Amino acid sequence: MLATLNDIYPDAQKRRIAVGAFNIVNFENILAVLETAEKLNEPVIMAFAQTHEENHIATLDTMGPVMMLMAEQAKVPVVVHLDHGVNISYIEKALKMGFTSVMFDGSALPYEENVAKTKEAVKLARAYHASIEAEIGKMAGITLNNSGITENRKSNRSNYTDPAEAADFVAKTGVDCLACSFGTVHGEYFSEPNLDFDLVKELSEATNVPIVMHGGSGVSHEDYKKVIANGVRKINYFTYMDKAGAAGAGALKEPNYFHEYAQAGKDAMQKDVESAMRCFTNKDEGSL
Ligand code: 13P
Repeated sequence: MLATLNDIYPDAQKRRIAVGAFNIVNFENILAVLETAEKLNEPVIMAFAQTHEENHIATLDTMGPVMMLMAEQAKVPVVVHLDHGVNISYIEKALKMGFTSVMFDGSALPYEENVAKTKEAVKLARAYHASIEAEIGKMAGITLNNSGITENRKSNRSNYTDPAEAADFVAKTGVDCLACSFGTVHGEYFSEPNLDFDLVKELSEATNVPIVMHGGSGVSHEDYKKVIANGVRKINYFTYMDKAGAAGAGALKEPNYFHEYAQAGKDAMQKDVESAMRCFTNKDEGSL
């Protein structure tokens, strides 16, 4: 059944858990995510990222309607979310398809422009009764170039989301939750994640809204527990699910048909998603 972030956050807040937001770029992602959510009887977020369209990985036109249909048929609440929307027109396209939630990412814009554009996105989302996430602060990143890997990660706060600015941003825009920078990176980790847990707590207390962790896959279960304890309620997760699928399909001995790859990839992603979701929802072994 369809849900918005605002439908599922109160329970997450009460239980002090996080809801997984898994990026969808193919049908196997949908199967892996929904199978797990139904198995654990937990709400889940299926997200389509505008960047995946720009990188020619998948299109909103093809994935969006399938995500909507599968979410409607699911036995658990499913938020169908647009991730990292950078154009208002693209956000509206997702809302017109029935997406129940959107993110406007103006983090690359000057602060006042981010506030103004986010306010516009909030107004639009409200007109469709959808929930809305936005972002401030620079996510640390990793760039692959000809000479190898360059990391522009800095483990000091000058790069991360500032709590006072975050509070001002939420008050001015009225967003439902806030993506913040506190040490995670999108994509693969080439060195140990070094997260600022105290900052997560300060951001949560300053804004009083659920904090969203981007670059969520590839982080240790111990670190998930710590950020969740400090106020993270949504964890965006993609790269390591995708890698698990590749490993599962690649381990096949002598496949004759494509569907064998698809099935093995889906099964491996399901296991990876289950391990993450059990941790996020306190249903892992340590908490049982
Ligand atoms: P990862 O691919 O690093 O898990 O990040 C996903 C994400 O943050 C999508 O917004």
